[in-house]
Amino acid sequence: MTKKGKKVNPLWGGRFDSGINELAQSFSASIDIDKRLFEADIKGSIAYAEVLKDAKLINPSELSKIKKGLAKILKEIQEDKFHWDPALEDVHMNIESRLVKVAGAAAKKIHTGRSRNDQVATDLRLFLRDKIADLLNLLTLLQKSIVRKAEENSETIMPGFTHLQIAQPVTFGHHLMAWYEMLSRDYYSRLQDANERMSVLPLGSAALSGTRFDINRELLKRKLGFKEISKNSMDAVSDRDFVLELASVLSIIGIHLSRICEEIVIWSSSQFNYVELSDEVCTGSSIMPQKKNPDMAELIRGGSSKTIANLTGLLALMKNLPLTYNRDLQDDKEYIFSSIDFSEDSLALLTVVVNGMEPNKAKMKQDCFQGQITATDLADYLVEKNMPFRQAHEVVGKIVALAESKDLQIFELDFSELRKFSKLIQEDVKDYLDPQKTILSRKQTGGTAPSQVKKEIKKAKLTLERRK
Ligand code: ARG
Repeated sequence: MTKKGKKVNPLWGGRFDSGINELAQSFSASIDIDKRLFEADIKGSIAYAEVLKDAKLINPSELSKIKKGLAKILKEIQEDKFHWDPALEDVHMNIESRLVKVAGAAAKKIHTGRSRNDQVATDLRLFLRDKIADLLNLLTLLQKSIVRKAEENSETIMPGFTHLQIAQPVTFGHHLMAWYEMLSRDYYSRLQDANERMSVLPLGSAALSGTRFDINRELLKRKLGFKEISKNSMDAVSDRDFVLELASVLSIIGIHLSRICEEIVIWSSSQFNYVELSDEVCTGSSIMPQKKNPDMAELIRGGSSKTIANLTGLLALMKNLPLTYNRDLQDDKEYIFSSIDFSEDSLALLTVVVNGMEPNKAKMKQDCFQGQITATDLADYLVEKNMPFRQAHEVVGKIVALAESKDLQIFELDFSELRKFSKLIQEDVKDYLDPQKTILSRKQTGGTAPSQVKKEIKKAKLTLERRK
């Protein structure tokens, strides 16, 4: 349609005298971003056409033309033969206007009782639910590689840290299983949970007030795999809580990945030298020939800030919006797509990093004989001999001070020197000073004793196998 020289949008141009300003057109087009919704859009339209037929709003032959047309469009897009036109603003209008060309007059009925407002809300939920399924798979793969490493290292001793200072001995397997636990919470109590709450069908809400047509929403819900239908049309077209929630889940996953990568960066440094990373995830320096840098771990750590930025961007986008639909909502996609892309890439990449990460067991062990690492065990020893813990803490503090003044570790002090601090100290104290023995004592659920870690690994493997 051409009115006053400028092309008017054929899908909504009826009341307009003139076409849209060129700058306004390019400013408002979202096609470069939302074309990723094409599969969801086509799936939604097929289901919608089917219920239109049930409501006798289109006849069986029209339905068949629409379905064939949509299948053709799907193929065109998949084969990169589809011409995306920014003048048609978004994915919905690009597909609908192409449908008019390939399916003829029947296609002009597809939007009966539907608005882009309920359409985009439906498409986005469908798209994100698919993406969550991908993310859950990627999380499982990463967890599997972590558990495999943990199993190989359930007896590998290393220092555990607080304040990045050597604190108490643990096993490398125990440390890795901590990562597994973080990611398990992401899997179950965050991603899966968010997915459940997202399973609500907005379609049938139309622009904002619902529709007069006899659209079978229950059937639509089943066809599109949703668990519930929205109960308020005004809420349904303006609600983006599900996007906020996913963005928040992805930012928590992002900081988990970032913290894991931070440890990998520290461990792979020449000062720590706890792990060797595979060449395939490291890069060299253009000037320092000796360098092997943990760039992938650093890029995941750095890139995770995007997930935080996207969450705050979305919160800012939403906070002042009155009901119901506002065009601001169009921008939600850019943020959430960015978080999804980062999460997918970094989960997959971190799996490669973990697979190729080999511990330097000798260095890890060597560091367990530093930092007065069994001081707490010596206090525990005195407690077992009936000394109150606070007193034991004080006594051991003094022993540590003596050892430090001699530049020794407490296990290097003469037995006679130890006995000067308390007559409760007997020969059997040796087992409490040896890091390799003390880890055996952490047998409570959640403790670092290899026997305990092996139990948790066994449970984890069963859980992961059951996931498919
Ligand atoms: N591209 C739009 C979006 O993503 C689709 C909905 C447009 N609705 C409207 N009333 N202009 O939000």
